[in-house]
Amino acid sequence: MKTWKIAALMLSVVLPSASLATDLEVTHWWTSGGEAAAVAEFAKAFDATGNKWVDGAIAGSGDTARPIIISRILGGNPMGATQLNPGKDADELIAAGLMQDLTDLATAEDWANILRPASQLESCTVDGKVYCVPVNLHSAQWMWTNRKVYTDLGIEPPKNFDEAVAAAPALQAAGIQPFSLAQGWPVGLMVNDILVAQAGVENFVKVYKDRDLAIAGGPEFTKVFESLAAVRQFVPADKMVPQWNEAVGLVIQGKAGANIMGDWAGGEFAVANMVAGQDYDCLPGLGVTPVLNTGGDVFYFPKSADPAVTEAQLKLASTLVTKEVQVAFNLKKGSLPMRADVDLSAANDCMKKGLAILDGSDAVFPNDVQMIDRDSINQINDLFTEFMANPDMAAADAQAKFVSIIEAAPK
Ligand code: GAL
Repeated sequence: MKTWKIAALMLSVVLPSASLATDLEVTHWWTSGGEAAAVAEFAKAFDATGNKWVDGAIAGSGDTARPIIISRILGGNPMGATQLNPGKDADELIAAGLMQDLTDLATAEDWANILRPASQLESCTVDGKVYCVPVNLHSAQWMWTNRKVYTDLGIEPPKNFDEAVAAAPALQAAGIQPFSLAQGWPVGLMVNDILVAQAGVENFVKVYKDRDLAIAGGPEFTKVFESLAAVRQFVPADKMVPQWNEAVGLVIQGKAGANIMGDWAGGEFAVANMVAGQDYDCLPGLGVTPVLNTGGDVFYFPKSADPAVTEAQLKLASTLVTKEVQVAFNLKKGSLPMRADVDLSAANDCMKKGLAILDGSDAVFPNDVQMIDRDSINQINDLFTEFMANPDMAAADAQAKFVSIIEAAPK
């Protein structure tokens, strides 16, 4: 064949795929410093495929973004792809036939074997079909402390929740908040973490998953509600900040000693150039018992009538779980990668602790959204917020209301 003919043939092979570049709007609620740094890795990798990531960040957090995302899809104005949490949030959308089926891609790429733990892909699977791709494993059971806050006051940095409570009066006397806290779901997260630390994972799962009312109303949980009543003076309602990352920021700035938050807080410390185990501590299971739950993030792809969009969606789904992207994203996000077969030599102390817990499967339990519906979670968050903010609300009262929410939750 003549050289020009070969060149023409090569061009005809190269040009069509280059011209197939597709814009894909991707919605998510990753707007804090650490989150934005992490999601930029996804955008960069997707753009490198010749397509275009059109960023659809929704300010606030999941509680703000989720209803917007769901109503856009239900209302016929879908985005190209969207973040959600692994759990029941997309059930209605899947049942309505609105979500792209990823089963063929998942099978071709062997997701069932390369992604772990199995719970995350299972959360994406409905009637044997895969509808989302898990991108990370996040756990909620962490306490974050600023070492300097304590050492400046001549106190050993706390190694667990009880030590942080014991140090609280000294911090308060020095005008430093013992614990920072954000309004809304972060209060629920904190109370649930204390329930797990003090009443144990097994009892927690029996209540949330099996709806064991005897345990929810029983003595182990009573003890926790009573100890919460004793610590609420250290997280006064008028000191609560609007967003979770602002509460983490108070610890970073040394205005608060500790914050109880998921491992995504690690992304904020990374952006602030602080070093785990040196400037700050990350204490899984609040330093009581190292545990983690299988929270995290998944991406769904609303169905499109345009085959170019479908092709770009599959490309994005595949890109999100490649080895390189998994490493780059998760190192910045503070989460654990979905794959075990990646190079984690750059992992910080917190990620190493998380990975060690993940290997001991007894310590791994389901995320709340994997056990109970979102509406009940919101009611629990509201109750815990009221309890923590109102010193007149008795522990017994809060526990009784908690039992009735668990009892009413749809199975
Ligand atoms: C969670 C999500 C995390 C995280 C956090 C705060 O729902 O899984 O990725 O960033 O919200 O925005």
